[in-house]
Amino acid sequence: MCGIFAYTGEKRAAGILIDGLRVLEYRGYDSAGIYTAGSSAAVRAVGTVRNVADKAARLTGTSGIAHTRWATHGAPSEKNAHPHTDCNKSVWIVHNGIIENYKKLRERLTEHGHSFASETDSEVLAHLIEEHMKALGNDFEASARAALKEITGTYGVALMHKSLPGTVITARMGSPIVIGIGSGEYFIASDPTPILHHTKDVVYLNDGEFALISKKGYTISTLDNAAIERIPSTIEWNIDDVKKGGFEHFMLKEIIEEPEVILNAIRGRLVIEEGLAQLGGLREVEDKLAGIKRLVIVGCGSAYYAGVVGKYMLEEYAGIPTEVEIGSELRYRKMLFDEETAIIGISQSGETADTLAAIKEAQRKGVMTLGIVNAVGSTIARETEAGVYNHAGPEIGVASTKAFLSQLSVLALFTLFLGRQRDMSPVMGKRIAEELLLLPGKVERILNDRERIRTIAHKYEQTRDFLYIGRKYNSPIAYEGALKLKEVSYIHAEGYGAGEMKHGPLAMIDEAFPTFAIAPKDSVYEKMISNIEEIKARKGRVIALATEGDMTINEHVDDVIYMPKTLEMLSPILSVVPLQLFAYYIATARGFNVDRPRNLAKSVTVE
Ligand code: F6R
Repeated sequence: MCGIFAYTGEKRAAGILIDGLRVLEYRGYDSAGIYTAGSSAAVRAVGTVRNVADKAARLTGTSGIAHTRWATHGAPSEKNAHPHTDCNKSVWIVHNGIIENYKKLRERLTEHGHSFASETDSEVLAHLIEEHMKALGNDFEASARAALKEITGTYGVALMHKSLPGTVITARMGSPIVIGIGSGEYFIASDPTPILHHTKDVVYLNDGEFALISKKGYTISTLDNAAIERIPSTIEWNIDDVKKGGFEHFMLKEIIEEPEVILNAIRGRLVIEEGLAQLGGLREVEDKLAGIKRLVIVGCGSAYYAGVVGKYMLEEYAGIPTEVEIGSELRYRKMLFDEETAIIGISQSGETADTLAAIKEAQRKGVMTLGIVNAVGSTIARETEAGVYNHAGPEIGVASTKAFLSQLSVLALFTLFLGRQRDMSPVMGKRIAEELLLLPGKVERILNDRERIRTIAHKYEQTRDFLYIGRKYNSPIAYEGALKLKEVSYIHAEGYGAGEMKHGPLAMIDEAFPTFAIAPKDSVYEKMISNIEEIKARKGRVIALATEGDMTINEHVDDVIYMPKTLEMLSPILSVVPLQLFAYYIATARGFNVDRPRNLAKSVTVE
């Protein structure tokens, strides 16, 4: 959700900034821009970073700030693209977040004679700093602190002043900032991926922190200038993890990585013979967890659907009543928690604003907070009391694929962990552990059949609408399958619990409205077949996702995709893979850039 990148050192900044923005583009790609020291103007362009790169060739400064935008206030246009500046073109800013009181600030500044060049909320910050500089003897640092204190809302910012080449200020409130430490050079970014190209040593800023950076070093302090010591950490990922590695799209690369992603999630975490899960991130809260009587899972989008699968697993195998909540709903509702409840935030990025806000609210109420997070060092990972990392590696494609699979894998481990603390027998624990170990090979088998999935997808590529149905463990997967299709192919798709069809959605079915039915041989198989029959009776076309060896399903449907058998609770880890591939093949056949769906961005750090 908007990417910011900044550099200070001895090299030409423009090239470094452009490369950094390219890596960050998945966070927003409706416009981009950069400013480097010594220039009297920024270069900006609508569209992707490529459109700025040529214009940036003339920039020679050795420090600079850059931005790739996902519009919140003001349509995508050159004038709304960052960096923004003040009336004198002296203060330069890039901002990720939302300045909630910008209208009031803008009115006040306009009364003081400021004129605005854009429709954005962000621009007020440049003018506010300019205004404070008049009162604070042109002290840029003090004015930046004073201006940031006046802002309500969220920000991750990088700031420069024309008269201080080589100095970059950064600060954060609600939107992530990480500083990369090189030798005689520093990098500032919204996430570590562009920094990886230069260094693995980083420091993460916390909310309310402010850093002053030049090629000689950096200081971190509060907005009131109280010094803060922070020990740098090391990024675990490698540079190859953030490259396409020969694939046409990150989305396909990330789907193909899924067998390894499951392995990475379970590696070293299973004691097969005892049927146990060992989760290092939960060790310190193990006793407390044994006393938990209720769980609330919170997430957004795909992470929410993973949470619904988690609820079914946890209730069936750990016997813990579990609720699943959408972050944006939970944060504004009355949360009924007690000391025997724990809240679990699920988030790939670890930065999703709504999920984070719900967790913070629960924390404020003294509730135990846990995280299932992929991005190491991210805000949710740091804010929660304990948690389990996914270890899925960076997910660059905007549509979540491998991270979703790893969330399901970690939820299965979590179920095993909590279940064995309670009534789950060692025999059942061993069964789940053994099945988990077999999943990477089974996903591999589905991937090997992807040509068949592609052929079926092409048959349906011109369809306008799609329905996805499933039951029990696979009902959330129906929702996830529909989400994947709509976000990458722009085909209208709806997910439904199959039993709900006759309560309304069946009315939509005709020859032009196909259904994807997830129908593995499990405890609700017969029910699914009845639901499929109801659709066929209304002339609806049906693609079934069935268990290998199920030949009878052919009699009921138009097309079949097969998946290997596994435990019912683990079947979503397999069933979602063909749905991801199906969405990928339809979207690419329709000519869309699946890695950057229109109107979307990865890492939703604004409400
Ligand atoms: C869908 C998708 C989104 C994310 C959601 C939460 O493909 O990617 O729905 O799942 O924005 O993001 P994280 O997991 O980063 O909190």
